[in-house]
Amino acid sequence: MLTKIWKVDNYVENLYTYPQIKEAANELRKNELVAFPTETVYGLGANAHSDHAVQKIYRAKGRPSDNPLIVHISKKEDVDKYALEVPEKARKLIEQFWPGPLTIILNVKQGLLSTYVTAGLPTVGIRMPSHPVALALIEASGLPIAAPSANLSGKPSPTTFQHVNNDLHGKIAGIVDGGETGVGVESTVIDCTEGTPVILRPGGVTREEIENIIGPVAMDKQVKEVVDQPKSPGMKYTHYAPDAPMYLVEGSPTYIQQLVNNSRNQGKRVGVLTTDEQKNYYKADVIVCCGKRDHLSTVAHNLYSALRQFNDKKINIIYSETFPREGIGVAIMNRLLKAAGHRVIKE
Ligand code: TXA
Ligand code: MG
Repeated sequence: MLTKIWKVDNYVENLYTYPQIKEAANELRKNELVAFPTETVYGLGANAHSDHAVQKIYRAKGRPSDNPLIVHISKKEDVDKYALEVPEKARKLIEQFWPGPLTIILNVKQGLLSTYVTAGLPTVGIRMPSHPVALALIEASGLPIAAPSANLSGKPSPTTFQHVNNDLHGKIAGIVDGGETGVGVESTVIDCTEGTPVILRPGGVTREEIENIIGPVAMDKQVKEVVDQPKSPGMKYTHYAPDAPMYLVEGSPTYIQQLVNNSRNQGKRVGVLTTDEQKNYYKADVIVCCGKRDHLSTVAHNLYSALRQFNDKKINIIYSETFPREGIGVAIMNRLLKAAGHRVIKE
């Protein structure tokens, strides 16, 4: 399939009237797949009303069909079109954080969205992104847009046009190129269907920011593990993973360098994932820097790109620094733990 590429200037006025956006929106209306930038990561969009369109997402990504998709809207009030009810706390979150990196799980109104979006669940995840291209495209299509991250299943999420193109070229109708995304990790997913909201996935909006608005929220068990500093080596499931196996190291640069040396003495080519502050401590085959540990938002912004940089470098093992599990650090550690298949080494 020919994959069209539409390059856009994110900051022109009335972006939704531009020919590139109109063409891309037209493909969505024809039930084709179009990748587009959001403020978090690139999404792979499809008409959320159409079974046929949404099934194409699962096929293009190689995604298991029991993993539901987020519905993207361009106006706050559209939440009432697709949600059966919107509890008070969810309303407050919408007022405060939309448009922005927060996905809210609500009971779904039956019969409007493809059941492939919700993977047959009685609930739906809805979010209004804040990226001008995402908003313009949704607006121009006149549709609710189902969109997972636009990567092949298991790979790090895409934060540049190039990442999307590497993974999906030839498999989708088009890609809107709006440059690099901002936040760098996906939206926070919060379930508001029960009394106390539960964070299912940490992301661009932090727990602290949410609790400032609606009071205490719970953390899903799997997210809690990140905060409670788990010691569960060798969990099989990996996601966001670079090609070589990765180990997270809770320890000093000196200790990490010892691990590097041991692996190199065994004839392995070794990568290190580090930060501006500590990068000069290491001698390894590939050293990738993912930002400043003093500014964790820079680490979030660069994380997936950094993980992808280890590929095609013929390395056998990667050691990664770890980060404080607070604020956006919770989302960073959640993704790193998955990328490392929960392999953690402590000094
Ligand atoms: O930032 C983002 O959220 C990006 C951009 C493109 O918007 N999208 C994204 O989608 O990360 P995806 O499909 O990669 O992740 C969606 C997450 C999954 O963990 C999925 O299980 C969860 O949201 N999810 C979606 N609908 C759900 C539902 N009804 N109940 C529970 N979890 C749900
Ligand atoms: Mg994803």
